[in-house]
Amino acid sequence: MTESRDTVARVDAEALQREALSAIEAASTANELDELRVRYLGRSSELKLALREVRDRETGMALNAVRVAIEAAVSSRQATLERAELDRALTEDVVDVTLPGDHLPLGHLHPITQTRREIEDAFLGLGYEVRDDREVETTEYNFDKLAFDPWHPARSQRATFFLDETHVLRTETSPSQIHAMEEREPPIYMVSIGRCYRRDAIDATHYPIFHQFEGLAVDRGLTLADLKGTLLHVMRALYGPDRRVRFRTHYFPFTEPSIEPDVSCGICGGAGCRTCKHSGWLEMGGAGMVDPRVLANVGIDHEDWSGFAFGCGIERVAQLKYDFPDIRPLWDGDLRVLRQF
Ligand code: DAH
Repeated sequence: MTESRDTVARVDAEALQREALSAIEAASTANELDELRVRYLGRSSELKLALREVRDRETGMALNAVRVAIEAAVSSRQATLERAELDRALTEDVVDVTLPGDHLPLGHLHPITQTRREIEDAFLGLGYEVRDDREVETTEYNFDKLAFDPWHPARSQRATFFLDETHVLRTETSPSQIHAMEEREPPIYMVSIGRCYRRDAIDATHYPIFHQFEGLAVDRGLTLADLKGTLLHVMRALYGPDRRVRFRTHYFPFTEPSIEPDVSCGICGGAGCRTCKHSGWLEMGGAGMVDPRVLANVGIDHEDWSGFAFGCGIERVAQLKYDFPDIRPLWDGDLRVLRQF
């Protein structure tokens, strides 16, 4: 008799089955059950070793029946344990749907973005197209085509951020006028909004990065009255009908005549305060009729067409709308400040 026959002979199939089934029945956790499965059905279990060495049909059938019985017991015990776990979870892990939810803080748009959107809305209502142009400009678009004289102080490295001889961070949104007029035939009604850069010292109303909106209209027969009417409409759309608007004559290289619109100071109501430098008025930017030289630079016949343009700082608009005395906190990202808007 060989050794393997001895092993088979030594396996008491019935005893093994009895032992396995009662252990499985007593298993109280999924882990325990898994250990038993390995012990009784695993590759090196007594049963598997015996099955591998079986030589006669009768022993094989008996051992196989034991295997089937143990497998059935394992899966039935597994189902029982899973059902018990589900029952436990349903009764113990109760979700109280009446409890208040977790507080997830909601952000909101920065006051500059809010203001920018309001400005866009005001001009969209007038049928203007909204443009978004480049912040890195050539000196040709930032100065030459806007008819800045060669000696103009804005061309100095002390006033403007130069990237190289011929490229600058745009100092204003006015180059958008040139792009708009080069890209399409008049009539043109467009507003361009975005960041501008100047080497300004930081104070309550200046920052080296700021935002402007630039408007341009080119059509037949436009006059200064159309410009003033448009500015009045937009200022009232932004600040409400109570703010007063006045226009002063001024000079810009690319407009003739040029004007500067002022809005009455909302912080002091016109009586004079630090923000309005005690004048009662706040400068809103510049405006004017597009200079015929600029129209000629983009190939528009000034006998046929005329245009007006305007440019204003958005920080200034936000300052007037929300009545805050200093623009510096807008750049600090201090939530105690930003949450107020
Ligand atoms: N770009 C000018 C500035 O930054 C403002 C300005 C003046 C824009 C007159 C215009 C304009 O479009 O016509 O000071």
